[in-house]
Amino acid sequence: MKAKSCRKSKTTMTQLVLPNDTNVLGNLFGGILMQWMDIVGAICASKHAESQTVTASVDNISFDNPINLGDVVTLEAQVSRAWNTSMEVYIEVYTSNIKGKAKVKSNHAYFTFVAIDLESKRPVKVPALTPKTSEEIKRYESANRRKEIRLILGKRLKPKDAKEIIDYFGEFQ
Ligand SMILES: CC(C)(COP(=O)(O)OP(=O)(O)OC[C@H]1O[C@@H](n2cnc3c(N)ncnc32)[C@H](O)[C@@H]1OP(=O)(O)O)[C@@H](O)C(=O)NCCC(=O)NCCS
Repeated sequence: MKAKSCRKSKTTMTQLVLPNDTNVLGNLFGGILMQWMDIVGAICASKHAESQTVTASVDNISFDNPINLGDVVTLEAQVSRAWNTSMEVYIEVYTSNIKGKAKVKSNHAYFTFVAIDLESKRPVKVPALTPKTSEEIKRYESANRRKEIRLILGKRLKPKDAKEIIDYFGEFQ
């Protein structure tokens, strides 16, 4: 399977914040934003894998700035690393007004998707990823540590076996 660049999977989605998306303060619900992030991430991962994908995990998401009714929300997703059947997708969220002005970065998060074969419903292999820019390389190189943290939290890896984290930070005490 031929390795692919991060750019091949790059996916952008734009949404307008409508009344049904907001709380009583007129701010976008966090859950709606997470749904949009999940959708743009799934499209991005599926483009890289050229197959259907499911969300395996979502890393910590914090909401730095409120997003208001009538704002335009742009979500940008890019695969940051691909392993055997799973992919880490880095998603950034920007907000601007309807005139396209006052652009602010609202938040970012890492999502993990697993490619699934529709017949067997089992995970399938995905192409490797070749990072190009210095930022892509930085995210690619730190991805193994993030993956180990997810697997520890998901009780799929014992902390003592988290080789990349131990190499980087030292033994768990
Ligand atoms: C994710 C899922 C496909 C993994 O299936 P599985 O039978 O455990 O398969 P495997 O053990 O072979 O794991 C497959 C990959 O998922 C990764 N994975 C599993 N759980 C993970 C987690 N919590 N975080 C990150 N990666 C995870 C594994 O590391 C493996 O990656 P790799 O092949 O690249 O090394 C399965 O748990 C599932 O279908 N979950 C539900 C997905 C879903 O419905 N999502 C929507 C939520 S509402």
